[in-house]
Amino acid sequence: MTDFQSLRINGDRLMQRIEDLATIGPHEGTGSCRLALTDEDRDGRDLVVTWMKDLGLEITIDGIGNVIATRPGILDGPPTLTGSHIDTVATGGRYDGNLGVLAGIEMIETLVENDISTRYPIGVAFFTDEEGARFPPDMLGSLVYVGGLALEQALEVEGIDGAILGEELDRIGYRGAAPCPGIPPRAFIELHIEQGPLLEDEGITIGAVTGVQGISWTEYSIKGQSNHAGTTPMHLRHDAGYVAARIATEARDITERMGGRQVATVGRMQFQPDLVNVVAREAQLTVDLRNTDESLLANAENQMKSCISSLAESEGVTIDSRSLARFEPVVFDTEVVDIISETCSQLGHSSMTMPSGAGHDAQMLARVCPTGMIFVPSQNGISHNPSEHTDREDLIAGANILLQSILTLDAKDLPGVEQ
Ligand code: GLV
Ligand code: MN
Ligand code: MN
Repeated sequence: MTDFQSLRINGDRLMQRIEDLATIGPHEGTGSCRLALTDEDRDGRDLVVTWMKDLGLEITIDGIGNVIATRPGILDGPPTLTGSHIDTVATGGRYDGNLGVLAGIEMIETLVENDISTRYPIGVAFFTDEEGARFPPDMLGSLVYVGGLALEQALEVEGIDGAILGEELDRIGYRGAAPCPGIPPRAFIELHIEQGPLLEDEGITIGAVTGVQGISWTEYSIKGQSNHAGTTPMHLRHDAGYVAARIATEARDITERMGGRQVATVGRMQFQPDLVNVVAREAQLTVDLRNTDESLLANAENQMKSCISSLAESEGVTIDSRSLARFEPVVFDTEVVDIISETCSQLGHSSMTMPSGAGHDAQMLARVCPTGMIFVPSQNGISHNPSEHTDREDLIAGANILLQSILTLDAKDLPGVEQ
């Protein structure tokens, strides 16, 4: 076995690729706007695929547009895989997702230039529509990859702009021939920014992620009656706008009543006809509930449901609910988590175990293979914001932990994985 312990990635090259990808869909200074399957997403994909091709990797694109680039190993078999996503929210930063993909490319380039062969193939992937901000649910591409959502159903998803996912995939030229579900990798590790404040608060460089919290997204469509804002007595109103506002405050109240790790967000709200002197006839809003504990998440959902029925009755409106995403909490493979923690000790980086607050492709891959994640700190815990920032040395540390952890996994016989 080749001695790989002293191998390190090229930090300048990683930073340059992050910079170059961020020139596509630039947003408010250092930010990025590459919503899934838009022209900007296509341009970002094209650039990343060029880098993959430059390394001589074998590239497959599947029916939902997931791209996997693989370098052969000494032995055949499914690859030990890394990767993440390169789509962003409309007001995103340059590191969310992109870091994991570009560090994966950098990891493989480091192996290529040092002429290091791995036992098994090594791959780097970017998965379609991780953000779910245009086409719900989030992690849609990796969900299809692991067989959690049928391809045909995914292709029919309608975006917030009325676009149909399959049509957009064809339009940007990324509907590939590889089958869905895809072949389970031998193992999967995703490097990502933390997107929260914990590592920075603790002064720690690396998070060895133990799992991902459960996610519940619901869209509420409220129908009331539009009427004159000045003449309609309060007791005669069927005010869809008022009900939307009450749902939003209930979401916050639920978190205050429950405490702990319960979080709730109302990220979208729209009124019709949206005029200053007209009681809103219709309103639509989304509620995002998350918890690391499945029974607590279900409890939060139930509290929201009873609030919805009592509001519908008291205001005389109808409220339709549509689930946009529902994923139970995920626990990562303890052996992979331990490998990441041990690699941190070997490389002299401080680390701690922690759950993930954000959703990630790794939570889908965990259904089919041993999986783990590496976090690096986010300055001021800010993400999904153009000012998202991680220090250069932390990005490089994360990429080196990724490289060494993947090589350790490659060298190991994994229980339950055919050798
Ligand atoms: C994806 O970023 C999510 O956590 O919603
Ligand atoms: Mn992400
Ligand atoms: Mn994100």
